[in-house]
Amino acid sequence: MIDYIYKHYDSVASTNDIAKQLINDYCPEGTIISADEQTDGRGRAGRIWDAPKGVSISTSLVLYPTLPQDYIACITLVAALSVRAAIKKFCGLECKIKWPNDVICSNKKICGILTERLFIDGKSAVIVGIGVNVKNTDFPEELEDKATSILNEVASEKEEMREVLKDMNDENYNSDVMRKLVEDDNTELLYLIWDKFNEYYDIFIKSGNMAGLVEEYNDHLINVGRVVKAYDLIEDIEGVALGINEKGELVISTGQGKRFVSAGEVTVRGLYSYV
Ligand code: BTN
Repeated sequence: MIDYIYKHYDSVASTNDIAKQLINDYCPEGTIISADEQTDGRGRAGRIWDAPKGVSISTSLVLYPTLPQDYIACITLVAALSVRAAIKKFCGLECKIKWPNDVICSNKKICGILTERLFIDGKSAVIVGIGVNVKNTDFPEELEDKATSILNEVASEKEEMREVLKDMNDENYNSDVMRKLVEDDNTELLYLIWDKFNEYYDIFIKSGNMAGLVEEYNDHLINVGRVVKAYDLIEDIEGVALGINEKGELVISTGQGKRFVSAGEVTVRGLYSYV
């Protein structure tokens, strides 16, 4: 298991960038950076990641894995699994995973993961950057249909639950969750995420692949049975997603048989919606 060292900042440009600086200063494996606010948060494919003060989790972990290149991309999958499990434990909310690196709820993104690799003195370092929308209530217009937060989802569940329970005079469960969400400074969920990561990463490192996690990952994978298109540098692969394999590849059933898509190389879109 990894020994963690937590470093918290009020405001940073990007927790992944702080991680890079610390790696250059030879920080130990298990260094975790978190911040109340990111002013220049980064997403995949050069996109901006909005992380306003106090409403979301922005955190990055430093690892020095000695895995073959092909398996580095699996760390993103391990992180997605961890966030999903941590949110469930934290407030009961059921999220899904959109391969490889999004955690989603109500078909909208609640968490994004940016895994980056760098080399220092010939040693490979990996930064696992996780952003979770916890208490966001407003999103930029272009993200309104695509992004949600834990608070948004728990609040809407509460409305549904009220309907179901109105004759039973029982509103306790969700009002407790709401209070906890509003009062907590996001540290409880932050620790839960990295605790879960430690559990799953240990299983992953011991087998050297996703074998011990495939079943759980596929149980929560929203892409399964859906038509997807994987865009890579060489060609587009379109077909029905079957799930991941032990290498963490997405297996897609196409007219030409099964195709295997590696997480490091592509983005996947459902053809009919965000997922
Ligand atoms: C994505 O979905 O495009 C990935 C988003 C990753 C955001 C996190 S927030 C913490 C870490 N620091 C960053 O600048 N980005 C990642």
